[in-house]
Amino acid sequence: MSSLPFASEARGLTKTFPPDRTAVDAIEFAIDDRECFGFLGPNGAGKTTTMRMLFGRLRRTAGDLHVLGLDPDRQTREVRSRIGVVTQENNLDEDLTVFENLLVHAGYFGLSGSAVRRRAADLLSFMELEGREHSQVRELSGGMQRRLLVARGLINQPELLILDEPTTGLDPQARLVVWQRLGELREQGVTIVLTTHYMEEASRLCDRLVVMDAGRIVERGTPRDLIRRHAGEQVLEVRWPAGADQPALDGTPVRRVDRHGDRLLVFTDDPAAALAGLGGRVPPEAMLIRPATLEDVFIHLTGRELQE
Ligand SMILES: Nc1ncnc2c1ncn2[C@@H]1O[C@H](COP(=O)(O)OP(=O)(O)OP(=O)(O)O)[C@@H](O)[C@H]1O
Ligand SMILES: [Mg+2]
Repeated sequence: MSSLPFASEARGLTKTFPPDRTAVDAIEFAIDDRECFGFLGPNGAGKTTTMRMLFGRLRRTAGDLHVLGLDPDRQTREVRSRIGVVTQENNLDEDLTVFENLLVHAGYFGLSGSAVRRRAADLLSFMELEGREHSQVRELSGGMQRRLLVARGLINQPELLILDEPTTGLDPQARLVVWQRLGELREQGVTIVLTTHYMEEASRLCDRLVVMDAGRIVERGTPRDLIRRHAGEQVLEVRWPAGADQPALDGTPVRRVDRHGDRLLVFTDDPAAALAGLGGRVPPEAMLIRPATLEDVFIHLTGRELQE
């Protein structure tokens, strides 16, 4: 398998946990150098398992996988030295201070001295944690710890950064900070691989993404392409009693009608015509016309609402 010019490439990548749970089922992807590539999917889809194979934490059961041209199973140490990892679970050292967490982590890469101390301080301010250097990790809020994990993942100046749900649990302000920073890293040429349950995050950050479900990749493309392919331009959302018959919208330019509880989602490029097709039965306060989003695509493809 040619490994370049892709930052990472997988073919037939499979992970089976004994006795017979196939968490990742023969997936293929090719991540370009310097792009931001997303893995979406409901709980249990296989995202974390895929990330763990990428950074050599789990050995694959079958298939080919390259990261920066290396095999993460056989060249684990070299892969790790060139990538940054932010895991889904918090694995900070609770007994150390914020600054010590960064320095100890740098030590794993053989990095020490004043240059690393400067870098650690820069990263703390990059993630808006300045002033917290000497706090114990346990004194930080969950969102601060998440930002510290991102800072720690950057200590070795990685070429590729893997983030498994980087902003889960962050408040909207902190999430914006992380989005901004990840955007800056991408501008600087860092390849970013992330998983997320936030469709807005995926839309904003990802150049391309895949949607996983039950271990398989069920769709792939740019956020824009996926929205166009599966949801179209606009959505007319109307409140519609759960027991009531679905309206016949024959003759109106509707691509699909989905029902979620007491809401109808009418996917259409002409919401005014679709609304007319509902025969004036919808009062203004019971309807909303909005652009289609990646969330619509996700729900359509995976058949359920997002869970965290
Ligand atoms: N160490 C393990 N041993 C056995 N089964 C596992 C192990 N790790 C994960 N699994 C199973 O593999 C499947 C995929 O899990 P994974 O953690 O990759 O999902 P995920 O997409 O990251 O989900 P989430 O959105 O909840 O984080 C699940 O069915 C899970 O129970
Ligand atoms: Mg996960």
